[in-house]
Amino acid sequence: MKETNLVNCDEMKKHVKRIKVKSVEDEDVIVNNKSSLEMIGKGRQGAVFKINDQMCMKVYGDVEDCEREYYAMSLGQHTSLIPRIYCKGKNFIVMEMVYGIDLREYLQTNPLTKELSYRLIEMLLTFKEIGYERIDHHKRQIYLQEDGSLKVIDVGRTVWRNRTYPYPRKLLRSLGKDYEAVFLQHVQELAPELYKEWQYYIDIDEAAAQMYENMKEKKDIDWRSIRKKANKLLTIKNEKKHYEQLYNLVYKVVKELKKQEQLKKNKKIVKEQEKSKKKKK
Ligand SMILES: Nc1ncnc2c1ncn2[C@@H]1O[C@H](COP(=O)(O)OP(=O)(O)O)[C@@H](O)[C@H]1O
Ligand SMILES: [Mg+2]
Repeated sequence: MKETNLVNCDEMKKHVKRIKVKSVEDEDVIVNNKSSLEMIGKGRQGAVFKINDQMCMKVYGDVEDCEREYYAMSLGQHTSLIPRIYCKGKNFIVMEMVYGIDLREYLQTNPLTKELSYRLIEMLLTFKEIGYERIDHHKRQIYLQEDGSLKVIDVGRTVWRNRTYPYPRKLLRSLGKDYEAVFLQHVQELAPELYKEWQYYIDIDEAAAQMYENMKEKKDIDWRSIRKKANKLLTIKNEKKHYEQLYNLVYKVVKELKKQEQLKKNKKIVKEQEKSKKKKK
């Protein structure tokens, strides 16, 4: 367990003992808080409590999620993007309180300026530099600071992943159609090569979705109508056609057998020729 002089981690443990956080599949955690700390938010993995103006504590439903987020946050401690870690327990992390306004809220009343797009590209670069496997974040987890810089929370899912999208799909989608277009326009101006690559992936993304839809449609096979339709392939009922087909069938069989016989004969001849050549030698 890590400690700094700013916080006594053992004391935090006492609070945590009075907080129960339970994970629920596809829903926010269920919290039973009997501590004196005020809950300031919760999500799928944990609940967050205010300790003082500088610090808060995230208590996790699963210890693995705590380990993972702790690891991810540790990787980014040298940057200004990730909240400082003050201490860690088995199922909690005491971290810096992040202030400012998250981008979901901010963009409800403010335009997506070129400067903000610039900051977002910078954020992706920092993620990459930190070594995150997923450099993609939802807008509500990105906080705009007073000085225009960004901070992000909830970075647990950026590490220990085996499959990630090759472009910031979650960020783009979370912006919504209009802001996504504005952001892409800015990226096109600021970093044309990057824009080209993203557009390439976006196109493939859409094509893959279309392909899936088409495949799904093909699954709806009309089993009933094929029975009737297949009658078109029948030949016996029409007498003239039937005899014609019979003749064709016999003709084809005999032709095929003759061909096979001829091939056998040819092979025999070749073998005998080779034998006699050897004898002469
Ligand atoms: N460092 C922080 N400073 C301030 N508020 C925070 C901080 N971390 C989380 N929160 C608040 O708690 C909520 C849930 O935290 P989050 O990390 O998103 O949990 P989860 O991993 O369960 O989604 C956030 O939406 C935010 O409102
Ligand atoms: Mg969250």
